[in-house]
Amino acid sequence: MTVKKIGILTSGGDAPGMNACIRAICLTAEHAGIKTVGYKHGYNGLLNQEFIELDPTRVYNLIQRGGTILYSARCDKFKQDPFVELAAQNLDANNVDALIVIGGNGSFRGAAKLQSVWNKPVVGVPGTIDNDICGTDFTIGYHTAIQTAVESIDKVRDTAEAFERIFLVEVMGNKAGFIALNSAIAAGCDHVLVPERFTTAGEELVKIIDKLDSRRKNKKFASLVITVTENLWPGGLNVLADSLASETGVDVRVLTLGHVQRGGSPSSEDRLLATRMGTYAVKCCVDKMQNIMVAEAQEKPIAVPIEKSWLEKKNLNDYTVEILDKITLLG
Ligand code: F6P
Repeated sequence: MTVKKIGILTSGGDAPGMNACIRAICLTAEHAGIKTVGYKHGYNGLLNQEFIELDPTRVYNLIQRGGTILYSARCDKFKQDPFVELAAQNLDANNVDALIVIGGNGSFRGAAKLQSVWNKPVVGVPGTIDNDICGTDFTIGYHTAIQTAVESIDKVRDTAEAFERIFLVEVMGNKAGFIALNSAIAAGCDHVLVPERFTTAGEELVKIIDKLDSRRKNKKFASLVITVTENLWPGGLNVLADSLASETGVDVRVLTLGHVQRGGSPSSEDRLLATRMGTYAVKCCVDKMQNIMVAEAQEKPIAVPIEKSWLEKKNLNDYTVEILDKITLLG
């Protein structure tokens, strides 16, 4: 049986570049004479039969737009077998021959569940700002999120310097430090706290205070900007801010960048990655590959078992960590 119709959905936290990926899938499929339909609101669209027919006119002028025209959602129902079976039946009822899921780890678990009851290709495309998916060098949206964080940190540094304050900048990343580490390096931050290197709150506090003391001794102290991964500091960043203020007597402020990192026009890197991955995902569908995730390793497209995305933990790049240790100012 040849693939005549491909379904697409976006699920979980949206990421800049998801639209560029939808566009690439639609255009590549059209080129091969394959129709595409977009299911809305993640897996909910499969359950509610909420979909739109896609064609080149619908994806025109889309590559530069943030968000996702298919909307996104997290779908708790999809953890239950009867709903997964319903999704498979609905796909068959719509004559869909393959499904592409653009999302993160949670979305890929749903994709694997669907694959276990549906004997047609289910292909994942890694789209999340967190970059926490093992098996691929980068995920769609990650580079744009770093750029957004860097622009904000550059701005906050001006006011931090003017008031000689400490700023704690909380960035997203879920349980991974990719955004914090790389935005800290790119923005020239003074310190960074990431889950992969976090010891205890007590020890980390001492490290920051030591850094501040050595700055003061060398009379170089003006301000400190510290990037921190969300959900990391026990009790939240205001607890760290209070401890730092009382230990050092310096004014401390907290800036939570939050969902702003998920928005905006995708960077050219994300547009290119999304386009390459979307195009390759169509090829995987045509080749009838099942239970796989599209990935890139050293700029080459590859297909990896989808389970890898949650069974294995992606580590920070050692070389980047080494750089951080060399270039953050200690005194
Ligand atoms: O996974 C993407 C992400 O933006 C994480 O960085 C963050 O922890 C989470 O989603 C936020 O989710 P929500 O949009 O439900 O607040």
